[in-house]
Amino acid sequence: MNTPIYQALQEYCRERNVLLHMPGHKGGKGFNLTEFQAIGAVDFTEVPGLDDLHDPRGVLAEAQRLAAEAWGAERSLFLVNGATSGIHCLLLAMGEESRVLVPRNAHRSFLGGLVISGARPIFVECEMDAALGVALSVRPESIKAKLDSCSDITGAFLVSPTYYGTVNEIKEIAELLGEREIPLMVDEAHGAHFVFHPGYPRAALQEGAQASVHGLHKTMPVLTQAGILHLGAGFPWSDRVQACHDLLTSTSPSYPLMASIDIGRATMQQHGYDLLEQAKERTERCRQRINGIPGFASRSREFMETEGVAGYDPLKLLVEITDLELDGYRLSRLLREHYCIQVEMAGENYVLAMFSPFNPPDDWDKLAAALKDISQRYAHRSRDRNPCPGFPPIPPLALTPRESFLSSAKTVKIEESKGMISAEMAAPYPPGIPCVIPGEIITAEVVEYLIYLKQKEIPVQGLRDRSLQSIQVVDV
Ligand SMILES: Cc1ncc(COP(=O)(O)O)c(C=O)c1O
Repeated sequence: MNTPIYQALQEYCRERNVLLHMPGHKGGKGFNLTEFQAIGAVDFTEVPGLDDLHDPRGVLAEAQRLAAEAWGAERSLFLVNGATSGIHCLLLAMGEESRVLVPRNAHRSFLGGLVISGARPIFVECEMDAALGVALSVRPESIKAKLDSCSDITGAFLVSPTYYGTVNEIKEIAELLGEREIPLMVDEAHGAHFVFHPGYPRAALQEGAQASVHGLHKTMPVLTQAGILHLGAGFPWSDRVQACHDLLTSTSPSYPLMASIDIGRATMQQHGYDLLEQAKERTERCRQRINGIPGFASRSREFMETEGVAGYDPLKLLVEITDLELDGYRLSRLLREHYCIQVEMAGENYVLAMFSPFNPPDDWDKLAAALKDISQRYAHRSRDRNPCPGFPPIPPLALTPRESFLSSAKTVKIEESKGMISAEMAAPYPPGIPCVIPGEIITAEVVEYLIYLKQKEIPVQGLRDRSLQSIQVVDV
């Protein structure tokens, strides 16, 4: 396998140098735990032979070049602070004067990126699935409507695949934007594995996006926190993005993380097709078994009935509870406490299982067997299939997220907050989409909705006051 970083680390170990440089654990000797000793043995810093991520000319340059080749990018930059930092780089590179299309289901790293850059977001509505209460896509028509009503948009983002595995109509959207010379950037945090098997959805860059961000650790054999930012041919601000990457990246990036990117890429290039083929088949069989268990269902092609959904990641297995007397949170706890199975997440009516080629073969059987057992133990009754009624329209933006972040804030009762500018985000779960973000005006609908969330005791992320009595607003 061609893994330049790992090979350079091995070479450095073989030289048995006296380590009079960082880090302080001295090749793992400072740890008295074997697991950490093993990591420490390859945890070095920018000594000669190991290159420098801020001025790559050796093994890191070569590893990034190999990554760009593998993922079909013009240039790829390693990220050691997750996909989050790739999104921050792109938004910062766009600059304060920019107006950027952002899907409303964007991950919270977008809010951070908007605060750092000062860019003005124009949010695009998502297509919701009523039974799940989550966003599955953004329709090309929704993008077109924004383009028609706003002439000064300078860039656009999509989240594809979504956390739930659904893929957007990237090609159509890239074409729409291309007609106006607006670059499309895709948060593809969950889709790094797609390029290694043609039976998986096509990757965003292949579909016409000009930049994409991968959270490599999510789906690849790569250490947590490792990500990559790909810039495609014709991406307008490549040099600025490189400068932002320098600005936002630690001067001591972790070599175990970067070497794991290299090893993960090489592993998938060499064995990815077979591994992904097998994992896909196993997940499909498991899905079929679940669809035969009373009380549960798991969609595959049916996802495409939602407008704007062009495909789905076969390794994401969403288990919907159709008619059992338990909700997704309880199901998740049962799976952990009684069957030693930890799923990725739970919602009102579902749990989300994430498989990878590196799950042992019986993991699929364990999930199906556990669900069968649970189905036999729990009473069957139909459930409320619409957990997220009356989501308020996206409120108007009075200040950019950055202006709001830098303003002083005060606490007001939610009932009295109508017309004020929010200084915080409120994102009920489900759907995990904010009903208000910093800088937006708190509308009557938002107030009503927050009161409803409080009454229903629906968990809300982002608000300082967890009891939902008050909200932080900009003190004007
Ligand atoms: C869609 C999406 N984008 C971006 C991120 C941020 O990724 P990371 O945690 O690697 O920084 C996540 C994290 O879960 C995510 O789900």
